[in-house]
Amino acid sequence: MSAKSEFNLKTIVSYAKRAGFIYQSSAIYGGFPAVYDFAHYGALLRNNIHKAWWEDLVKRQDVYGLDSAIFTHPTVWKASGHVDSFADPEIDCRTCKARIRVDHLLEPLGYPDADRMDIKDVNKLLQEIRDNPEQAGKLKCPHCGSTDLTDAKRFELLVKSNLGSPTSELSEDNVTYLRGETCQGIYLNYKNYVQNLRAQVPFGIAQVGKAFRNEIVARQFIFRTREFMQMEFQYFIHPDDTDKYYDYWKSERVKWYTEKLGLPEDKFKLKPHTKLAHYAKKAEDITFYFRSLDRFEEVEGIHQRGDWDLSQHQKFSGEKLDFYDQARNERFVPHIIETASGLNRLVLAVLDHGLHEEVLEDGSTRTVLKLKKELAPMRTAVLPLTKDEKLIKLAEDIHKDLSQDYFVEFDKSGSIGKRYRRQDEIGTPSCITIDFDSLDDRTVTIRDRDSMKQKRVKIDRLREEI
Ligand code: GAP
Repeated sequence: MSAKSEFNLKTIVSYAKRAGFIYQSSAIYGGFPAVYDFAHYGALLRNNIHKAWWEDLVKRQDVYGLDSAIFTHPTVWKASGHVDSFADPEIDCRTCKARIRVDHLLEPLGYPDADRMDIKDVNKLLQEIRDNPEQAGKLKCPHCGSTDLTDAKRFELLVKSNLGSPTSELSEDNVTYLRGETCQGIYLNYKNYVQNLRAQVPFGIAQVGKAFRNEIVARQFIFRTREFMQMEFQYFIHPDDTDKYYDYWKSERVKWYTEKLGLPEDKFKLKPHTKLAHYAKKAEDITFYFRSLDRFEEVEGIHQRGDWDLSQHQKFSGEKLDFYDQARNERFVPHIIETASGLNRLVLAVLDHGLHEEVLEDGSTRTVLKLKKELAPMRTAVLPLTKDEKLIKLAEDIHKDLSQDYFVEFDKSGSIGKRYRRQDEIGTPSCITIDFDSLDDRTVTIRDRDSMKQKRVKIDRLREEI
């Protein structure tokens, strides 16, 4: 795994399954495309990333938290522009019937951001490529190589539901939507926060939750799925402060990745959008270099949304959503700076960066997940050296005590070497081994995941050590 060529997405997929992090959803029925289940260690890791983000924001004086409903009034998605504009251009291969995202087809030919173009412009571009003898042959299906491709058409990304409707037939009148982005719930609650929580502009609302998108192609494991977790933050500001807070939040968010996720700065690049989403006035992506994909990919978007959202909801609902700023003696519809990141994608980034196969001095290999201790699924593991009753009892007492503050693994079966390997594989920063000396002198061996060095410590000092 040390060489780039040996490490790809398949390496992570099989690791995540073997080590108990992530499984294909409904696998016993043959699987359900682009939906995944986060198993024991995957859920713990994801919760820790969630916590690192939530606490960083919601502990601030100017930020509030929210957990809004997944279902909303159907008009929300008309007002937000998603019913009209939330679609990806898609092309079908007439030979193998594959559905292809146009950006997957056109980016390798040197046309980035094709997914953000209008269908009309995509089809104009496709025609120009077909008419260019040097490029025409390159326009082919990435699956079977056929050049027999349809024109682009709209593939709607909002997922529909019949919630609250007596019939499963969907029509204009009974359709509701699963949220395509979590931030809409924030705009719908903005007025409550001003009126009831006495929030004063500038202030922010943060939310972590599920979002759903009918993605055309979702073959990149948890990078792009149809059900995923977003961590979205909306900062409500006076319009004159847009540039100031855009720069401020961009720099805060970039810092968070190195300080709280422990990912190196040189693996990140900011990428400005050339074609903007329907709600954005200006936008940049924070991209991360995924070793497994061998390229930089978006993990977060920083957007200037202007007054698009509140003005649209004001127009469609008839409710006034302006703000009276006492200090300025001015009434205005707040503008919004958004930071929108994908929690599942960050789990992939942490696995991608941290997963290593190391050859040890004795020629054996170990799989080790190197990540910050605050993110590790298990903070430590308690391992009684043998199944002797007295050792087990002391180990259980230590486990019970530390478990009051941390997730702590207890493992009594197999050789101690195999047990260390198992903890290395799931990223446990340290292991605590209880042996017969522990019964006499109340000391234990603590072994460090990364250096594999061992030292003796007093049981009373374990909290400081882990
Ligand atoms: N509210 C703005 C918004 O949703 P976005 O760029 O569409 O912006 C924000 O999404 C983040 O959500 C992305 O940077 C990405 O990390 C994550 N994301 C988007 N679609 C995803 C998908 N299908 N699967 C996993 N993560 C996704």
